[in-house]
Amino acid sequence: MIISGKELSATLKAQMAETVATFPEKYGRVPHLVVILVGNDPGSVSYVTGKAKACEVTGIKNTTIRKPETITEDELLALIRELNEDDSVDGILVQLPLPKHISEAKVIETISKEKDVDGFHPLNVAALWQKQPCTVACTPKGIIRLLKAAGVQIAGKRAVVIGRSNIVGLPVAKLLLDENATVTIAHSRTADLASVTRSAEILVVAIGKPRFVTADMVSEGAAVIDVGVNRDPQTGKLCGDVDFEAIEQKASVITPVPGGVGPMTICCLMENTIECFLRRQ
Ligand code: GUN
Repeated sequence: MIISGKELSATLKAQMAETVATFPEKYGRVPHLVVILVGNDPGSVSYVTGKAKACEVTGIKNTTIRKPETITEDELLALIRELNEDDSVDGILVQLPLPKHISEAKVIETISKEKDVDGFHPLNVAALWQKQPCTVACTPKGIIRLLKAAGVQIAGKRAVVIGRSNIVGLPVAKLLLDENATVTIAHSRTADLASVTRSAEILVVAIGKPRFVTADMVSEGAAVIDVGVNRDPQTGKLCGDVDFEAIEQKASVITPVPGGVGPMTICCLMENTIECFLRRQ
């Protein structure tokens, strides 16, 4: 069974649109998300366009601020501080990656915790690991939603996450643990990775290498979540981290690329923006 993140996110966004439509009467305005895009990287431009479209569908106000690659770190931090102080702004997102002369860590910690719709701020990350209320990063949140919508029971299962990034690998492992899975975090240097992944009843792959996971690495009946967004070196088309055609035959459920995890990330960004807005009322 192929799990469509596109379909689920459309349903969830329609529900959010209904909720947001009640806000002008209740609160006098709608949530406002500001997205900052530095430079012209085609991948980032495409993400930011997707975010603006989702805002339109859900009725969230969107401002996209584009800055040239030459913006200095100080200028970018000053812009973020200005938006932190602006009461009409509920969520701030700076599209990553940033040019090398700008510290992503400084940018992330300058966005106020209350407006951090990405859930990347160290205080949000700490709160997640301490089981305190927080903004949960969009991709990990979207993955748990997808698994539940597909009817995959998480509690009691053996889950393997390949990848240990702050954005996906580590937080998704924590969320699976909170759902009572037993979680192994693996990576590109894990010894005998195939024997580890073959033990997985739930396999989440976030490593960023085209078709890294081959059919021999997956057990019959596993739920496979592919977070990769890569260009196929042969065809130039978008492809995931898993060999979809081969693994589709073995998996009980699998997410496609595109149309799987990606739309759920944007959907959860809308949800996080609404949550930040409501907390500020
Ligand atoms: N670049 C790729 N994914 C993301 C994301 O979820 N948030 C931000 N800010 N940048 C990204």
